[in-house]
Amino acid sequence: MQEITRLICQTKDCHSEGEKRVESINPPIHKASTLLFASYADLALANEGKYPGLTYGTDRLPAQRAFEEALCQLEGGEICRAFQSGINAIVHTLQAFTKAGDHIVVCDNVYWPTSNFCNKVLSKFGVEISYAPSAVGADIADYLRDNTSLIFMESPGSNTFEIQDIEAITQIARARDIVTILDGTWGTPLYHRALSFGVDVSIQSATKYISGHSDILLGTATVNHKYADILARYYQSLELFAPPADCYAALRGLKTLHVRLKHHEQSALQIADWLESQPQTGRIIHPARPDHPQHSRWKKYFTGSCGLFAFTFKKEPSEKELGEFINALQLFGIGYSWGGYKSLITAGKYVRNGSDLNGSTVIRLNIGLEAVEDLCHDLAQALARL
Ligand SMILES: Cc1ncc(COP(=O)(O)O)c(C=O)c1O
Repeated sequence: MQEITRLICQTKDCHSEGEKRVESINPPIHKASTLLFASYADLALANEGKYPGLTYGTDRLPAQRAFEEALCQLEGGEICRAFQSGINAIVHTLQAFTKAGDHIVVCDNVYWPTSNFCNKVLSKFGVEISYAPSAVGADIADYLRDNTSLIFMESPGSNTFEIQDIEAITQIARARDIVTILDGTWGTPLYHRALSFGVDVSIQSATKYISGHSDILLGTATVNHKYADILARYYQSLELFAPPADCYAALRGLKTLHVRLKHHEQSALQIADWLESQPQTGRIIHPARPDHPQHSRWKKYFTGSCGLFAFTFKKEPSEKELGEFINALQLFGIGYSWGGYKSLITAGKYVRNGSDLNGSTVIRLNIGLEAVEDLCHDLAQALARL
């Protein structure tokens, strides 16, 4: 046998007779397009769609299946599917559950790329979109039409933190056979179990706390029994898959999520209290604080909070002052996304239906795992410039 032939033969993952078993705590990462069948009989079964094992790299490889299964258990769902990012999970779920001629209702505090996809892409395929107020409850009924097929919620909204009355909405939706989707990334499945409040599809951006280290993009959709088949068939028809190494990283993140999340939660609450006492700050926007407009909903639907919250200034800053404040921070990185160990800051103005935050600069903090004292010290020296 020539050297090149031997080299090619060695690249397959095989265990010869008598080899010691390799068993790691974590599942292996298979990097594969082709999966080998043991015999022609197995190939023939696969050709007929009857092979019981995995047939190809798009067949949700073992690390993906392990991650999906773990998340599905936490969410209390029937099936879970992983996607290449949180926004991918959102757009594919919206596509899986709509068709031309449908009307959908989206809460207007959703992550901007969600509404952008609805407005720019979904609408091209004959789906009509209406927006309901961010803190909508039973009044969702006012926004429904005969052809409304889907309601999309995000609670709390990841920039302005409004919470919908989830149970009131899902009860109305069920009676009319409308599918409900909720982006619950803020609470994670540890602090918010959307399906238990009647939501049909729970979305997570696993990019955030689940993976926790700002080094991967991954999303999930977990579905109840009623809608499981629709999502599974859609996912299979599009031959979707999630990158094995990213599923591995997210599965690893899940193992420490409860410890990290508690730490993020406690640090954020302490920093929110401290910020309230500063002369330059206006409103603190944190659902777990009693002064939050939907605090009673937070108590009903969530069992904890995370490290993401916001505040406004007492006196609206000029662009120059805002830049000086943000640039002065030494420990807070300036950047999108959240849920990682490093503290981050973003700033923006948001227009929400009927919101008293309209027109105010909202400073969003992602409180990481640094010492609270150091973060407060950093914020204090930057606030002093205002
Ligand atoms: C609430 C929410 N959902 C979804 C996403 C999208 O997640 P990803 O960055 O994984 O696409 C984000 C990202 O910031 C988000 O804040």
